[in-house]
Amino acid sequence: MKTTAKAPANIALIKYWGRKNETLRIPANDSLAICLDKSFTLTTVEFREDLEKDRVFIDKKEAIEKEKERVVKHLNKIRKKAGIKFFAQVVSKNSFPAATGLASSASGFAALTLACSKAAGLNLSEREISRLARLGSGSACRSIPDGFVYWHGGNSDRNSYAYSLYSHLYWGLRDLTIIIQKEKKKISSTKGHQLAFQNPFLKSRLKLVKENLKKIKKAFKNKDFSLLGKVIESEALSLHSVMLTSQPALIYWQPATLAIIHKVIDLREKGEIESYFTIDAGPNVHLICQKGQEEKLKKEIQKINGVKKVVINKPSVGARLINKHLF
Ligand code: DP6
Repeated sequence: MKTTAKAPANIALIKYWGRKNETLRIPANDSLAICLDKSFTLTTVEFREDLEKDRVFIDKKEAIEKEKERVVKHLNKIRKKAGIKFFAQVVSKNSFPAATGLASSASGFAALTLACSKAAGLNLSEREISRLARLGSGSACRSIPDGFVYWHGGNSDRNSYAYSLYSHLYWGLRDLTIIIQKEKKKISSTKGHQLAFQNPFLKSRLKLVKENLKKIKKAFKNKDFSLLGKVIESEALSLHSVMLTSQPALIYWQPATLAIIHKVIDLREKGEIESYFTIDAGPNVHLICQKGQEEKLKKEIQKINGVKKVVINKPSVGARLINKHLF
């Protein structure tokens, strides 16, 4: 039976960087993210008796060996859990460029996990799907629940999963995803996580994350946008401090990345638009603003040299099964 799932990307406001356990993808710290409505992956899966191997297509092309290997590894876990032996046809489509720090692995593995577990006949709870998605890509566990999502890092496979802290309708925040580079990044986040634990600065970052988690929970509870903004910028800069001081150094920023940061600070200081930046493992920037400010902000950002595209996202529901198949 063909099964299709749609899963949103998510932007972490408190990030996951470094792992206590590599194979189980148990993160060094808890994280908090927003699911995004315009940035998503659609994936159709079908297990078939007639296939002699797994076939994986991503964005209309047969997946390259490295990508396919990761997907097949995930399929094997689900096959084992469901007790089935058939190979699968997997067709996946992203609404945004893959592997540029725009969380394609998050939405990708979230959609794959949901579609695949259903197609394999498993009937799993949201928590179980989140745990399973985490094994494919850590941040994917946050693309399963709705809205504003918290990943309880935990210390074992059982207690490391994400859940919804607030529904997508709780707070009218907007995310502007600013694409300045569509090419794939040279060093993957998977490799970056491994480098983090050899970095002496990670210890200070983890201390700061603890404080920032407390502050951000308070900001959400009181819908305190200025507090939220201060925390997310401090968090993103602390993440990039660790990246920059890794060996080899992970220098993801491009000139346009910095130009956007300065623009955002400038707009705030002039009292024109209050928005705050966050950046993942790539040069692209996410700006968070309040509902009503997004179009004005987009206009300002589009003027910057090197900005290729700006996508406005609202908070979204998590992964869902849908009836429209990709093949
Ligand atoms: C910087 O989830 O992509 O975006 O588990 O190896 O697939 P893997 O890593 P991934 O790492 C995400 C890193 C980040 C921060 C975040 O989204 O929390």
